[in-house]
Amino acid sequence: MATFKFSVLPGDYIGPEVMEVALDVLKTACGKEGHKLDYTVCAVGGAGIDKFGKALPDQTVETCRNSDAILFGSVGGPKWEHLPSNEQPERAALLPLRKIFKLFANIRPGLLYPQLADASPLKTERIPNGIDIVCIRELTGGIYFGEKKTFTNPDGETAASDTMSYKVSEIERIAEVAAKTAMARGKKVCSIDKANVLETSVLWRKTVSEYFRKNFPEIELSHLYVDNAAMQLARDPNQFDVFFTENMFGDILSDEMAVICGSLGMLCSASLGIGKNSIGLKFGLYEPAGGTAPDIAGKGIANPCAQILSSALMLRYSFGEDALASRIEKAVRDTVCSGIRTADIAFGMKAVSTKEMGEAIKSRL
Ligand code: IPM
Ligand code: MN
Repeated sequence: MATFKFSVLPGDYIGPEVMEVALDVLKTACGKEGHKLDYTVCAVGGAGIDKFGKALPDQTVETCRNSDAILFGSVGGPKWEHLPSNEQPERAALLPLRKIFKLFANIRPGLLYPQLADASPLKTERIPNGIDIVCIRELTGGIYFGEKKTFTNPDGETAASDTMSYKVSEIERIAEVAAKTAMARGKKVCSIDKANVLETSVLWRKTVSEYFRKNFPEIELSHLYVDNAAMQLARDPNQFDVFFTENMFGDILSDEMAVICGSLGMLCSASLGIGKNSIGLKFGLYEPAGGTAPDIAGKGIANPCAQILSSALMLRYSFGEDALASRIEKAVRDTVCSGIRTADIAFGMKAVSTKEMGEAIKSRL
């Protein structure tokens, strides 16, 4: 019997709708084991702007600091699009959270059940067994967080620059996450860079090669240039098992992977930090890969699976409850594969509502 202490940041549009159902499923799953949930709901994103004038209100950060994990919904939408880009919910909430909590490792499972193969834009014969790969993205370094400026050249022309840099220690720690993920799977890792052009990638490739040779000789390590990797992912995603890359490349490749895996409503993610939480495990932020879907918000039809699966990742990484996490993942899989589907994955079947999906998953726990 344990108590899981976390912050809940539902965010905007469908964020709160799918969060409500995910918390309900989480309560049922944990309750069966006698575990308790101790969570605090905080405003973030557009909700933070509306309530406190800021996408990431100070009290939200404070509450997160006093938690062992953050369960995040989705932020942003048309209501706040008129704001300057550095005040918009996505950039002004997510990027500072990553930096403050040193969430350097973004883990995104690219999972497509064979029964959902129709949801992928790839021809079904290319993915007869669905898709099962993992994308690991470095999340607190590189061009996202390097020096940025807009300036006037000596000739009077306006210019801007962003700087990309990586330290050996930053590369090694993300290589370690990739290696440990691969050890629990197929012991196969692909590192993705642009070492034919970028200095940071030359260092990346050298550091990764040495790190694996020294620490994980049993893992089959390969390297790809990012342009080729983008092509390979679209051609035959299952040639990868675990792939990992720097921040900007990872931003792009993880979206490519998401679309190949079909519905955004099914994809979850974990962003893990450096330090340990109060129970000696990893602090992390857990969020669905899809956005706030303003077009379907308020209709009660959004797919809650990605949010539910994100909460399963929270149990696994931040609370050490691997078996319980697997049970939730299996309940989601069984539900979807038995033909109970929200509209985004219904393909002609009768679609159920967000809440009905949650109830169906609960009944399979
Ligand atoms: C993501 C998003 C963010 C990113 C944006 C919203 C800042 O696209 O999590 O992939 O670029 O990292
Ligand atoms: Mn992105």
